[in-house]
Formats: sequence, C-alpha cells, structure tokens
Amino acid sequence: MIPFSLSEKSLFDTKKQSIALFVEHENLETKEVKDLAKEYFPALLAYCKQQEFAGQVGKMVAIPTGDEKMVKTIFIIGLGKKENNKIDIEIFRRALGTLIKAMQRLKIDSCAMSVPEAKLFNVTKEYLAQQIAIICNMAAYHFDEYITDKSRRVNQKPDIELCIKSAYKKDFQEGIEKGDIIAKAVNRARHWIDLPPVALTPTELANKAEAIAKEFDLGIKVFGESEVKKMGMGGLAGVSAGSEQDCKFVVLEYKVKTKNAPTLAFVGKGITFDSGGLSLKPPRYMETMKEDMSGAAAVMATMQVIAQLKPKVNVIGLTPLSENLPSDKATKPGDILKFYNGLTAEVKNTDAEGRLILADALSYAVKHYKPDAMIDIATLTGACAHALGPFFSGLMGQHPDLIEKIKKAAETSGDRVWELPFSNDYKAAVKSTVADICNIGNEKIMAGAITAGFFLQHFVGETPWAHLDIAGTAFDVPDISYYAGGGATGVGVRLLVDIALQWQQ
Ligand code: BES
Ligand code: ZN
Ligand code: ZN
Repeated sequence: MIPFSLSEKSLFDTKKQSIALFVEHENLETKEVKDLAKEYFPALLAYCKQQEFAGQVGKMVAIPTGDEKMVKTIFIIGLGKKENNKIDIEIFRRALGTLIKAMQRLKIDSCAMSVPEAKLFNVTKEYLAQQIAIICNMAAYHFDEYITDKSRRVNQKPDIELCIKSAYKKDFQEGIEKGDIIAKAVNRARHWIDLPPVALTPTELANKAEAIAKEFDLGIKVFGESEVKKMGMGGLAGVSAGSEQDCKFVVLEYKVKTKNAPTLAFVGKGITFDSGGLSLKPPRYMETMKEDMSGAAAVMATMQVIAQLKPKVNVIGLTPLSENLPSDKATKPGDILKFYNGLTAEVKNTDAEGRLILADALSYAVKHYKPDAMIDIATLTGACAHALGPFFSGLMGQHPDLIEKIKKAAETSGDRVWELPFSNDYKAAVKSTVADICNIGNEKIMAGAITAGFFLQHFVGETPWAHLDIAGTAFDVPDISYYAGGGATGVGVRLLVDIALQWQQ
C-alpha cells in the first residue's frame, strides 16, 4: 500500500523527488505554477507552451528540473474545463492514474502533491481523500510476481505527501483510512483474478475466503462437491462434472447486532476457468477466461471491506466456485439439470455455465436468508461486453428502488453501470420444450445479456433483485489510466461496498 503523509507545509519545502499539481484548462498561470517556475524552472510556462500543454483533460507534462538532489521532476496534470461549474471527479481519478503510472515509468519513488480543493469537484474533503487513496493504490497495482527478471518489476509503493491546509487534516485522515481499506480489497480481488487458473482453483479461492473470514471475523460456510450434490445443487455440480477439481460453495456472513436490520445478499459467479466445456470456446476467446471468477472475487473482497467499515446492515456474500472443462464426465448439450429450488433446465450450450451455478446460489440465498435485496455480479455474457464495451457494466432488474440505489452507488464509487431494458417481453426467450427453462436464449429474441438475466430471475422468487453483467468491465480495460497495463480491474468491489454503506441513507 502507498504510504500517504499529510503536510501543511508549502510544496516548496518538500523533500520528495517530485512535485505534482493539477490545473484547469487555460488556467495554467496560477500563483502556484508561477511560484514553482520561479523556484525550480524559470522557463516552465514556455516549456508547457512548446508541449502544447494548457491543462487539457488527460494531458500531463513531466518537467525535469535538472536538479538531481532535490526535486527532480515537476508533474503538471490537466483537469480540463469546468462543466456545470465543476469538474467530474472521474477526470481527477484518471489524472491521478496518469501521475502514478508516470512516476513508475520514470522510476520516481516519491511525490509531494498539491491537492485541488474538494469544491472544484463538488465533493466533501473526506470523499476526495478517500478517492485519492483508492485510485493511487489501484494505479500502483501490478501483477508481476511471475516475472523473474526483477528489472521488469515495478515499485508498487510510491511515497506520496498530500499538501493540504491544516484545517483539512482530520477529514483527510479519515478519508485516507477508509480509502486504504477499499483499495486493499480491490487490489486483492484483482490479484486473485490475475493468478493463473492452475494456481487459483475453486479450492484455492475457497481457502482465500476462509482466510478473510478468519482475519476479519466473518461467519463462513464452505460446502464441497459431495455436499453440493447432496443439497441438490444440480447446476453447480453439473458445471463441475467435467473437472477433476472439487467445486465449492462459499457463504460469507456479516451480521449486525441490531434487531430487524435489513439483509443484503451479494452473489458472485466464480468460474475459475471457463473453457466452455464440451461446447468448447475457440482459443482466442479462452485466453482470458481465468477472469471468469471476477464476480466471486468482487463479492469476497467486498465482504472484507464490510467487515472493517461495519455498515448497519447484514450482508451475506455467496460464491459458487467451479471450473468449466470438457471430459467424458462433463455435462453434455441435451442434459437436463435440476437446481436447488427444484426447477430444471435443459443445457443446450455448456458454455452458458455461469447462470447454472448462479441459479443454485440465488435459490440458496433466498431460502436461507430471505434477503431484503439481492444483487448478483457475473462475467456472464459476451453479449453484454459487445453492447456496452469495457466502460460500463450491464445493470438489469425490475425493482426501481434497488436499481436507483445501484445507480447512485455507481456514481459515488466510479464503477459505472448502464441499465439495460428488462421487460417481460424477453422472458419467453429461455423457454424449453423438455425442461422448465433452457440455458440459452431463443435466437429470434437475441439480446443475450438480457435473456441470461431472465434465466436468473427464475431463481430469485419475490426477492428484490438486480443483476450486474461485468463481462466487458472485469479485465483488460483500455484507455483508463488507473487500469493501464491490463489485467483485472476489480470491478464491482467499489460498487458493492458503496451499495452496502449507503443502504440505510
Ligand atoms: N464467461 C463467459 C462470458 C464472457 C465472455 C465473460 C467474454 C468475459 C468475457 C460465459 O460463460 C459465456 O461463455 N457465455 C456465452 C453464453 C452463450 C453460449 C449463450 C457467451 O456469451 O457467448
Ligand atoms: Zn461460458
Ligand atoms: Zn463463463
């Protein structure tokens, strides 16, 4: 984790290797910039001009001072122009990402940062500090433990001093503390996702859940394959049938003492590798399928945060974990599976396996916890990734209050969602002539992301429920600075955390 320090001294008193400041477009000639120029680099403004830098969004100049002993580099990062009298906080997140990545590229280990006023983004100081902690740590994340050449590894811990007014100190301390907790969990989820599938089997992921439960004092139940079968979870057992690895069903429980507190259930898809099964994927589509447990990772990491930030709601995290592989034991197209709630489904395509394992987990959550709201999160369909690309997760549901809460949390957290139409017109798509429902949608209705959602709806009963499809947003997201380098994004952790924290507001 990045060691942040707070300083009330001026930027010029810093002992750090670099200085960073943020400027609005065409507002470069601030007192701060002019003072910096005077102190370190008289031709600073001319240099910016030459670089055509005027504070545009996404642009940065890294100015070498020529002084190798003290401040080596000055970073000036553009925030663009105000719109509706403010700058979108996401622009600031990306500006921070740009800074951290540049520090790593230039091998600069420390930085004194002039923090913009919270009111520029129309947010509180505590929230601003929290976002700084989250994003700097997310940007500093690298998955390079398997690279033996040490020179190719990155310093994950640049040291950052935030220069703020003394009156801001308390708010900033609190924000950073909270942000650190969230960032740690996001990066932990990313690490699990980035691990090769041979190292992160269902058993291994269940072990990680056990470790979290122990470290943060959460309740936990772990069911192995034989128990899964005995309980009647034919979806999870059916998907796992082709694999030598035991499947697992993990339930993490955070319970508050308050009587009558509401209960939230978060359900995450945990396919540790999706080959497609007998409906085998083509190689190109299989390449990144270690990402197919991103929903489960998000749920587990969220539980770790919940255990620390202690919202006044019960939160249950449920994760069905399995591999999806072909073999002579594997479930075949044409097979019919029976789920925990008694419904049956015809399996026409073994690559539509996520909904099969989620069906059991959703049914289990409804039966055992009667949640006031339930949200599942899954790398469920290529169709969703095609529809929305890598920048928005798909959101589906028929409970407007819950949808609104999720949209609000998407705004505060930065994990953006886009609601897809979820009208009953699509329901007919998952009909089957030989079982209750079919695991792939009717070709005429298309809309694969939505029809997958309607498959899941059969398992939620009357519970207010929403579905998040993160197939496009979980892995290798381009063009967002704090995800640069590719790999897992940890999408969903920030979102689910904010949903739980904001639940009672
Ligand atoms: N895990 C995939 C979906 C996916 C695709 C996740 C791309 C991340 C990136 C899922 O299990 C799958 O294969 N879905 C099929 C469903 C189809 C057979 C109805 C798909 O989307 O093609
Ligand atoms: Zn699949
Ligand atoms: Zn899958």
